[in-house]
Amino acid sequence: VSGSNGSVAVIPPGLEGVVVAETEIGDVRGLEGFYHYRQYSAVELASSRSLEEVWQLMYDGALPDAEGSRAFGQRTKELRTLPEVTSSTLDVISGHGAPLEVLRSAVSLLGAELAWRPIIDLSQTELLAQATQLCSLVPVALARCYRLRSGARPLPPRTDLGLAANYLWMLKGVEPDPASARAVEQYLMLVVDHGFNASTFVARTIASTGADLAACVCGAIGALSGPLHGGAPSRALDMLDEIADPARAGDYVRRVVGAGDRIMGFGHRVYKTDDPRSTFLQSVAEDLGAPLLPFAREVERAVERTLADLKPGRQLHANVEFYAGVVMDACGIPREMFTPTFACGRTIGWCAHILEQSRHNRLIRPSARYVGPPAPEPVPAAK
Ligand SMILES: CC(C)(COP(=O)(O)OP(=O)(O)OC[C@H]1O[C@@H](n2cnc3c(N)ncnc32)[C@H](O)[C@@H]1OP(=O)(O)O)[C@@H](O)C(=O)NCCC(=O)NCCS
Repeated sequence: VSGSNGSVAVIPPGLEGVVVAETEIGDVRGLEGFYHYRQYSAVELASSRSLEEVWQLMYDGALPDAEGSRAFGQRTKELRTLPEVTSSTLDVISGHGAPLEVLRSAVSLLGAELAWRPIIDLSQTELLAQATQLCSLVPVALARCYRLRSGARPLPPRTDLGLAANYLWMLKGVEPDPASARAVEQYLMLVVDHGFNASTFVARTIASTGADLAACVCGAIGALSGPLHGGAPSRALDMLDEIADPARAGDYVRRVVGAGDRIMGFGHRVYKTDDPRSTFLQSVAEDLGAPLLPFAREVERAVERTLADLKPGRQLHANVEFYAGVVMDACGIPREMFTPTFACGRTIGWCAHILEQSRHNRLIRPSARYVGPPAPEPVPAAK
């Protein structure tokens, strides 16, 4: 393939394995089944730290000390009030479309209402302040949207709870039990970042044009909504419902794969071994006593066996989405909120990447190989 500057490159479909940027934020090692945020194992962070501490690590490059952690936690709690126009518009639009579509619209509106200027015109301090506010408001907007959709009275945010516990409170309106709040927090920590996935790439591409933060995050939400990226966890639970009995899992897989479709919650572009997020979420589900866990494990084994048979050598294992649904279901998060909950965590990672992109920016503008009819051909006269 010849680029416009005469360089030659072979393009794998889906850009698999192509390095398109340098980052200090984190990485995924697919063959080892390992991923990290900065220099720390993401799974270890999720087992021993708070979401707010991981959030600071992603933004600042270092874990905070006790005072820094307390001060940041307090600041994020004070940023939970949705501005007037965004809040009242949510009241109107929440019943229309899926919650993630509503969120995409709310983020767009938020940027307009708060007069977020193009990133190219902002200092890092200004962009950091906007990013912190956005990440604090995404769960608040989603919980409000869910309450309105289900005919319940929206609840005001609380300032005595961490992000995860406040999200659960605002969704369900009951005091979150500590085990569920911690499980949701751990899930959110696990999904903060994951290499150059599609939505992160989109966020960085938009940031590279110098557009505003809301534009970057709206694009990323759009990418995340696709079932091949973040839209799979509710479909994975739908699949468990449909299978109903592990003995039927093999037939189910043969039917779906035979029809040319994918088994949701299985396979990954980078992991060619167990997905460490799936392994950790199983232990979270175990601690919670998640009702669906034993059944899900049986189905997982049967699906893996059948996929190994149908697609030998492809290494198709359960990914993060499969057990995410099991954990969220045990915490009382409704199915339609699974992918939106994923977005609550991933917004932190998107913002870290947007900040990094803006610090060392060059417009992302790749090329495509033209494979149409030879040009130029004379333009036929209009008939
Ligand atoms: C995540 C995903 C998009 C990665 O796909 P990818 O890297 O592009 O993998 P490919 O499409 O190259 O697939 C390689 C082979 O495995 C098969 N495969 C991959 N995932 C599969 C799945 N979930 N079910 C059935 N077959 C699958 C493909 O059909 C392909 O088979 P082939 O070589 O006979 O054509 C893919 O595994 C998938 O669609 N999974 C289901 C959706 C999901 O769970 N998404 C959440 C990801 S965290």
